Amino acid sequence: MISIGALTISDGASGGTREDVSGARIRELVAQLLGETVTISAIIPDEQDQIANTLREWSDQQHLNLILTTGGTGLAPRDVTPEATLAVIDREVPGIAEALRNNSLEYTPMAMLSRGIAGVRGQTLIINLPGSPKAVQECLEYIHPVLKHGINLLTEGPKEH
Ligand code: MTE
Repeated sequence: MISIGALTISDGASGGTREDVSGARIRELVAQLLGETVTISAIIPDEQDQIANTLREWSDQQHLNLILTTGGTGLAPRDVTPEATLAVIDREVPGIAEALRNNSLEYTPMAMLSRGIAGVRGQTLIINLPGSPKAVQECLEYIHPVLKHGINLLTEGPKEH
């Protein structure tokens, strides 16, 4: 069993003017593709400090294995999810972000506009997904086979040589 958080980053959804369809889609897909349950969900506005604080708390206090964020990866002035994520990670995992963008180009050239990153804070893997439910689905369907192995590596003890 792994512990997973779903963080929706959206001014509209956090203000109640828009339904959090993408967060719901993450929860469905986590159950369907990984056979796991999302243990914590939250909806917050596109505020860099609030995003960074939530990522820190979920990693350091809640000890989640995986945090999937959705939204705020584009070019709009309020899109600051990658900056907040970069501020809290210890190590970047560029391959996941590269693979996501590369695969997403099969669906839409707009994939070039997502600046999402992936990285590790302590023993928590953090992955930025774009904001739409369609993008969430396309991305999770592609990366889900590597997630458990990645998480296992993070929680391994020191290697014996
Ligand atoms: N990736 C996939 N797989 N499918 C999509 O429909 N939409 C793109 C892109 N990535 C999309 C995608 C669009 S339209 C934008 S603007 C960027 O993600 C950034 O989205 P965000 O600002 O909601 O995070």
